[in-house]
Order: sequence, then C-alpha cells, then structure tokens
Amino acid sequence: MEFRDCVTTRRSNRSFLPDMIPAEQILYCIDAARMAPSSLNSQPWKYIVINDPQLKNKVANCICDPLLQSNMHARQAPVLLIVVSCMPDNANPLTRTAIKKFGSPQYDIGFSVQTLCLAAADIGLGSCVMNTIRKKNRLRELLDIPTDLDICLAVALGYPAEEEPVAQQRKALEEVCSFNCFDPLHKN
Ligand SMILES: Cc1cc2nc3c(=O)[nH]c(=O)nc-3n(C[C@H](O)[C@H](O)[C@H](O)COP(=O)(O)O)c2cc1C
Repeated sequence: MEFRDCVTTRRSNRSFLPDMIPAEQILYCIDAARMAPSSLNSQPWKYIVINDPQLKNKVANCICDPLLQSNMHARQAPVLLIVVSCMPDNANPLTRTAIKKFGSPQYDIGFSVQTLCLAAADIGLGSCVMNTIRKKNRLRELLDIPTDLDICLAVALGYPAEEEPVAQQRKALEEVCSFNCFDPLHKN
C-alpha cells in the first residue's frame, strides 16, 4: 500500500475475524516497529506476542472490563501484543544515567506502536491500541514480566471483520498548523 493510503485508511479496529494471523505477518509488523526513532536511540520497547488461544483469553481478561464494557474487543482479536518499556539491554552506566535523565520511553513507545499499526494496515491487518489495562499485576504474573519493567500498552491485531470502519473526525490542517509563530486563533 502507498504510504499516504496507509496513513489515511488505518483505523482502530474493534471487530475481528477469528482467523489466526501467520507468525510472519506478526513479525512483519514488529520488524517495522523496531525501526522507530527513540530518545538517545534507547529503543525502550519489548513486544510480547500472545497467539496461544488459551493464554490469549487469559490476557484479554486482564485487559477488558466486562462491567464497563471496555476493551471487549481484546477477547475477539486472535492476537494480542503487550508492549513493555525497558532500559537498553547492554547500556553502560553512563548511557543508563543519560537515558534515565533525558529518555522519554512513553513517546518512544508511541512512535514504535504507531509504526506497527501502519505496518499492520499495509498488509490488511486491523489493529487497536489499548492503554486501559484493568489487571496489570495479574498480567505481569501471567507473562513473567519483571517488576522493574513498565507495562505500557496492549495492541489487538487481527483481520478486520468490518469492510469499511467508520472514518474518525480529524481537525483540519489549518487548525493544527501555523508557520513561524503560534496562531492566536489556535488558543481555544
Ligand atoms: C495511546 C492510545 C491509547 C488508546 N487506548 C484505547 C483503548 O484503551 N481502547 C480503545 O478501544 N481504543 C483506544 N485507543 C484508540 C483511540 O480511541 C483511537 O485511535 C481514536 O479514537 C482515533 O480513531 P482511529 O484510530 O480509528 O483513527 C487508543 C489510542 C491511543 C493512541
């Protein structure tokens, strides 16, 4: 798919077909995600792929909230990714200090996950980023995630069940962009 088409047609998918995604397609997406820029090139991300159906159900139950009907699509998606933030594996003490002071893992992971979602759109996969993870402690236990690593986001992946997801409203270009100084009309 052309880059512009990827950017404009990507949507958060909340309805998935039950078909499993081949591992190569999952890896295609994560391979793209690892190319994202990051502060101090710290690449503070680990992607845990959950494609075992039984484990996936347990993980989905840590994410969704049946009472509030929140993120119920986590149950439907055939694959879930859990994105964990971490220090670089072999960072020397100086680099670690610099990253602690100037690193921005949340931004970095945002860049990486958006790259992943665009790669998914490129090959016809639907995705939905989820940051409301209801039972983080249970999820940590289930996936053996060390306590010093932060569980940041989950991503639902699968073949979209809807042909054409509804386009979301976006602000107009002139509402979000000004040249050479802040546009006073942008202060609402
Ligand atoms: C950091 C982040 C967290 C999000 N968390 C959730 C979530 O928990 N559940 C959900 O259904 N969608 C979630 N979304 C998806 C947004 O609701 C969605 O991107 C937004 O409404 C725009 O729609 P679009 O992605 O279809 O263009 C999240 C998106 C981002 C970037």
